[in-house]
Amino acid sequence: MQTESLDKNKIKIVLLEGIHPSAEKVFRDDGYNNIITAPKSLPEAELKSTLSDAHFLGIRSRTQVTAELLEHAPKLNAIGCFCIGTNQVDLTATKIKGIPVFNAPFANTRSVAELVLAELILLLRGVPQKSAAAHRGEWQKSATNSYETRGKTLGIVGYGHIGTQVGILAESLGMQVQYFDIENKLALGNARPADSYQQLLSTSDVVSFHVPETPETKNMMDKTAFEHLKEGAILINASRGTVVDIESLSLALSNQKILGAAIDVFPNEPKSNQEEFLSPLREFDNVILTPHIGGSTKEAQANIGIEVSEKLVKYSNNGSTLSSVNFPEAALPSHAGKHRICHIHKNAPGVLAKINEVFSSKSVNISAQYLQTDEAVGYVVTDIDQTSSDKAFEVLRQIPGTIRTRILY
Ligand code: NAI
Repeated sequence: MQTESLDKNKIKIVLLEGIHPSAEKVFRDDGYNNIITAPKSLPEAELKSTLSDAHFLGIRSRTQVTAELLEHAPKLNAIGCFCIGTNQVDLTATKIKGIPVFNAPFANTRSVAELVLAELILLLRGVPQKSAAAHRGEWQKSATNSYETRGKTLGIVGYGHIGTQVGILAESLGMQVQYFDIENKLALGNARPADSYQQLLSTSDVVSFHVPETPETKNMMDKTAFEHLKEGAILINASRGTVVDIESLSLALSNQKILGAAIDVFPNEPKSNQEEFLSPLREFDNVILTPHIGGSTKEAQANIGIEVSEKLVKYSNNGSTLSSVNFPEAALPSHAGKHRICHIHKNAPGVLAKINEVFSSKSVNISAQYLQTDEAVGYVVTDIDQTSSDKAFEVLRQIPGTIRTRILY
């Protein structure tokens, strides 16, 4: 069980793996000065000793946060993954220890959308193959299979954050936008929903995938889907490597069923820049191959630094767990003039009643109370008068099932 009270000078923040300096700035601007940064992930022993008195941890994808590591981080309050994915963190172990985990799911949305737009323009003009030929000394001056974007139809599969941005940008070029999504989505601009996935495939000049990796999206673009695709279409995948069946794509390219493709994500990607990239697509000049860099821009890195550190600062100052990936989400207002007691406990019947019994027995006046639970954890936040906070706080820690308590002044 952990108990913490907020004193910004004592709160130790560890930011690893070369997280963008924008993150450190957010902490410092808010008065946090006990910040350790490292350009890379730390070796295990060093990581454990660094975390032994750390309150907040920021990582990217390389640091593995396991249940075992958490045993060496008794004061850890929250973790920020300064990236999109959170697979590197044991989300159940962190939750059971009362540690919310935050990430930045949308900070690179614009970066992906811009890349897709650039690729569709280049592919409609046949630039990739003409450029590759020129590198070999061949001069392919021709307008054959070279098109403007204006008036062409873009089919977006997965009309979420990235899909909608792509749609807006494409419309500004004069493209007609249609989309297919399993959810009912608000159409932005003049976009319209396609009647079906097949209809989208057969009526789009460019098809771009922006779906998550799920059992349903695995090989969504398979041999049958390629048969539905319009002759001479262009295919773009900057979503997940499992979505497009590479063998079927290779076949469609060999048969010249499609004019070209841009692929940023692959079923098997090299683990490092030292490893060779192997793919049957390497032989096709009319395929833009990029090493999963759809979201990799300076702006996205800076945005991620700001987005995640702001979530950590908010949790530290105010207790808000909004958009945490493993924790009951509580969006909390400010608590000016009050003390805020945050109580994280195993979700069992009667804990809230026991908490309120404590307040009642200590004659504490509750000015606001918030409760969020999931199947494992309950999160109760109570705003009370400053005069009575300390005595109630001590008793609250003793309630059976308590995982962690914090008092925010
Ligand atoms: P999002 O969650 O905002 O949107 C995904 C959309 O796909 C949702 O509207 C959802 O309803 C829809 N969808 C889910 N299953 C579907 C199905 N079977 N058929 C049709 N629609 C379906 O996600 P966001 O942020 O737009 O990201 C989209 C993809 O882009 C994700 O796979 C993400 O991992 C990937 N991504 C790739 C990057 C890169 O570097 N290439 C960078 C960032 C994200």
